[in-house]
Amino acid sequence: MTSTASPYPSGSAAFPHRGLVGIAGLEPHEILFLLDEAEQWVKLNRLSQKHDDRLTGLTIINAFFENSTRTLLSFEIAGKRLGADVVNMAVAQSSIKKGETLIDTAMTLNAMHADAIVIRHASSGAVQLIADKVSCPVLNAGDGQHEHPTQALLDALTIRTAKGGINGLTVAICGDIMHSRVARSNILCLTALGANVRVCAPPALMPANIAEMKVEAFHDFEAALDGVDVVMMLRLQLERMQGQFIPSPREYRHLYGLTEKRLELAGPDTLVMHPGPMNRGIEIDSSVADLVDRSLINTQVEMGVAIRMACLDVLTRSVRKVEGWK
Ligand code: NCD
Repeated sequence: MTSTASPYPSGSAAFPHRGLVGIAGLEPHEILFLLDEAEQWVKLNRLSQKHDDRLTGLTIINAFFENSTRTLLSFEIAGKRLGADVVNMAVAQSSIKKGETLIDTAMTLNAMHADAIVIRHASSGAVQLIADKVSCPVLNAGDGQHEHPTQALLDALTIRTAKGGINGLTVAICGDIMHSRVARSNILCLTALGANVRVCAPPALMPANIAEMKVEAFHDFEAALDGVDVVMMLRLQLERMQGQFIPSPREYRHLYGLTEKRLELAGPDTLVMHPGPMNRGIEIDSSVADLVDRSLINTQVEMGVAIRMACLDVLTRSVRKVEGWK
């Protein structure tokens, strides 16, 4: 008989964290626990009846202080598929515009007895600040240039699904590394899971402390692509740039755009990822983004819902008094 014993510690020892502010601080087995939990939701989401009622009666607030399409929608769908009451705070119409401090907003959300709060904010560190003030689990949906943990988890699940594993793969993350919370969280997550991570950016968009991050840094895009299993392209985060970081979008594409020709140089099986939103024709050509057999961009979106369902389920287990979860 094959053993069905879980490879993880039981109950909350499997994921002993109150919230999810970053990948930093997570053990590799805790990351794998969330990926494995998400597998059941990948299956459920492919059925016509995609409903589970484990979060019935819980209130989840999505407080997005910065624009979002897929992350907000993905968290909303995830909460609803698990049966929660999901409320999206419309920041454009909120008192933030009247000068309310972040702490006052946090205390207001707390007084409404939310059972989980999902936050996106333009300032690095804002999510931790709120997490320290409220009594429910807080999930980071992206804070400034700091972290975007659910993006890294969905990217890891996408790679694992496509390649059968992550340990030993070579992944190149290319583009605006300096301003990208997606790059930071992915570097932490993929290196924790045993991937060799390369980063490639023009000198002006490479973080000064990159040497501390267990990655191989490149400025030459074609050298960075040579032989990689996966290439992850990033959007130029123009909203986070003060001053001129690139000569022109045209020149940027010439040196750092993923074209069909460059993908061929990378290798015949190299897969392509992008967290979205894409600037087609700048960091990635449409002919590459839309390659049916090599682009994982739609799979990333699919895995995003499953990962967020797993995170919401796991983080509310103590609230729901699931046996063994304190
Ligand atoms: C990313 C983000 O917001 O950090 N998008 C996303 O969550 N899918 C990447 C980006 O904005 O470029």
